[in-house]
Amino acid sequence: MEPEIVHSSSFVVDAVALIAAEAETAIAERGLFRLSLCGGNTPRSVYALLARSGLPWDRVQITFGDERCVPPDSDQSNFRMARETLLESAAIPAENVFRMRGEIDPKEAAREYEAKLAAVAARFGEARYRHDLLLLGIGDDGHTASLFPGTSALEETERDVVANFVPKFDAHRITFTFPLIAAARRVCFLVNDPAKEEVVRKASAGDLRYPSGRVCAECGRVAWLLGF
Ligand code: 6PG
Repeated sequence: MEPEIVHSSSFVVDAVALIAAEAETAIAERGLFRLSLCGGNTPRSVYALLARSGLPWDRVQITFGDERCVPPDSDQSNFRMARETLLESAAIPAENVFRMRGEIDPKEAAREYEAKLAAVAARFGEARYRHDLLLLGIGDDGHTASLFPGTSALEETERDVVANFVPKFDAHRITFTFPLIAAARRVCFLVNDPAKEEVVRKASAGDLRYPSGRVCAECGRVAWLLGF
C-alpha cells in the first residue's frame, strides 16, 4: 500500500487532529487508544498542543518507540521530553504510561518492555502488541526510532523491542523493531524540517537503503505529515 503524503501549513494542529481522530476510532472500537510516541525535537510542539486536546486520557495507553540509555531526568531522555510537554500537562495516569527504563542494562530494559507489551497483547488476543497509532520521526540518515543504518536491530525479525548499539553515538539505544512497527494499525511520520525533504522523498518511496524506507515497505497504513 502506498504511503499517504500530507503537506501541511498547520503542522502542529494537523498532527494533533490526526492523533485525536485515531483516538476516537480506537476508543469507540476497543475502549482503548494505544499510542506510541516518537522522540527527538520535532514532536515537542505537537505534544504540548495534544496535552490541551481533552483526550480521555484514562482510555489512552502511551508507549515509546525508542529511548536513549540515560536516566529519565536526563536532558537526552525521550521520556523526559514527553513528560515535560505532554504527560504532566495532560495528567495522564502513571499506569497508562509505559516507560522504557533507559537507566538499567539495555538488554534487560528491552526484555522488560517486551514483557509489558506482551501482557497487554495477550489481553487483546494479539500475537504481538498492536498500536492504534505509532508516531515516528526520521533522521538525516533515514533512521527512525533507534533503527539506524548499519545497526543490528535492522535485521531483527522476531522480537518486538531490542537493545541496539549505535556506533555513531558509541552508545546503546532501546528501540522498537520493524515487526512491532509493522503490527501497528497506523504509522505516522512527523517531519517539520525542510532540510529532510530529500531523505523523506526517498524513504517514503520505499528506498530500502534507509530504515524509514523499510517501514513503508512492511506496514499497512503509513502516513507522512510534512510541515513543508
Ligand atoms: C530519537 C528519536 C529519533 C528522532 C529522529 C528525528 O530518539 O532521537 O526517536 O528517531 O525521531 O532522530 O529527530 P528530530 O525530531 O529531533 O529531528
